Amino acid sequence: MVANPMNTLPKQFQSRRTGLFFFETILATGVTLLVSLYKTRKKGGPIADLAVPRYTFPSNHQNPRQDTLMPLLGVNIDHVATVRQARRTYEPDPVHAAVLAEQGGADGITVHLREDRRHIQDRDIRVLSEMLRVGMNFEMAVEQEITDIACEVLPKQATLVPEKREEVTTEGGLDVSGQKERIHQCIEQLKEKQISVSLFIDPDEEQITASAELGVDAVELHTGAYADAADDATQQQELARLIQTSKYVLDAGLTLNMGHGLTYRNVTPVAQIAGVHELNIGHSIISHAVMVGLERAVREMKQLINA
Ligand code: PXP
Repeated sequence: MVANPMNTLPKQFQSRRTGLFFFETILATGVTLLVSLYKTRKKGGPIADLAVPRYTFPSNHQNPRQDTLMPLLGVNIDHVATVRQARRTYEPDPVHAAVLAEQGGADGITVHLREDRRHIQDRDIRVLSEMLRVGMNFEMAVEQEITDIACEVLPKQATLVPEKREEVTTEGGLDVSGQKERIHQCIEQLKEKQISVSLFIDPDEEQITASAELGVDAVELHTGAYADAADDATQQQELARLIQTSKYVLDAGLTLNMGHGLTYRNVTPVAQIAGVHELNIGHSIISHAVMVGLERAVREMKQLINA
């Protein structure tokens, strides 16, 4: 018979050994459990099924002030990536920005994976598609390479935009009526993957009609001419054009999105246009974020230097 080593210990140490023994057993069981949970998750077992659903893109909230619906806010985080790419470093991370935007109440996150990869990178799209709680609005040129990426990461919505390498930002809307066949082929591929498709167009009836004929879900009316108007009279004219073409969009049975150049100063009249589903805003929000965060950022660096 093998002697129990516990019995060979003096009495005062035996209860301590027993406690340690239990602690080790509990620790080992815990580690085994965690490893098996991790493996189950990797295999796509019950834990994977508990993962947060990827698409919880909200429908418009009821506006308590009027009998209308409030537009949703899609926050464009390209400009965070622009700052990162200026140094080709890891900060600021647009994924981190997306999390903060979600916490601030963003209804969607908009990103433009440009062909020249000047700001958003492929990695950003893949990580965002894994962790976003709200829907991703994936802005893209009508190009096969980018369409393939969209079909792989499956954003909630793809917004087709014109893209020129020399432009600073998207200038003008997509010429849908002028290149219907090309756009049609791209839409077909996206629709096959159940990606909702929106076309970024100028507020122009011909373009709206062409978009509806292509069977897209939505159009995003370019608000740049309104935002960049040189004087009040021109701005009012451009606002009237947005209101007029909005009705045309809704009559065509399309979802009405708008964006480009919207700021804290000019957004209200656009947000009040009847039937707007979603506004996509980037530059102004990121600019404001830099300003409201700068004082704290400097104070924290100063504390480190003085520590
Ligand atoms: N919508 C579209 C289609 C865009 O291309 C952009 C700019 O990337 C935006 C909205 C956001 O514009 P801004 O940065 O001026 O708010």
